[in-house]
Amino acid sequence: MMAHITWILPDGRQIAADVADGVNLMNAAAMANVPGIIGECGGCLSCATCHVYVDEAWQEKTGEADGTEDAMLDATDAPRRDSSRLSCQIVAGPALDGLVLHVPG
Ligand code: FES
Repeated sequence: MMAHITWILPDGRQIAADVADGVNLMNAAAMANVPGIIGECGGCLSCATCHVYVDEAWQEKTGEADGTEDAMLDATDAPRRDSSRLSCQIVAGPALDGLVLHVPG
C-alpha cells in the first residue's frame, strides 16, 4: 500500500509523493527531492535535520515525539513548535494517507 504525502515548502510550493508503507518520511522526502529535509544521520535520531511541522489536521494521527526524539527536537535549526516532529520517526502507513507536512523555512 501507498500513502499519499504532501510537503509544503516555506515558499508555498508543494511536493507530493506516494510513499510505500513502512518507509520513513525522511527517506521519502529524499526520494521526492524535497529541499530542506536533509536527514544527515540517515534516520538514527542524531541530527535533527529531518525536522518538519505536522499539519494541524494530522497531529493526532502522527502522535507526539517522545524520548530521544523529544530531546533532539530542542536542537533543530528552525524554532520548535507543538507540531514539530523528526520525519525519520514518522513511518508511512494507511493511517497517514493524505498527510500534510510543512518544511521549516
Ligand atoms: Fe537524523 Fe532524523 S534523519 S534525526
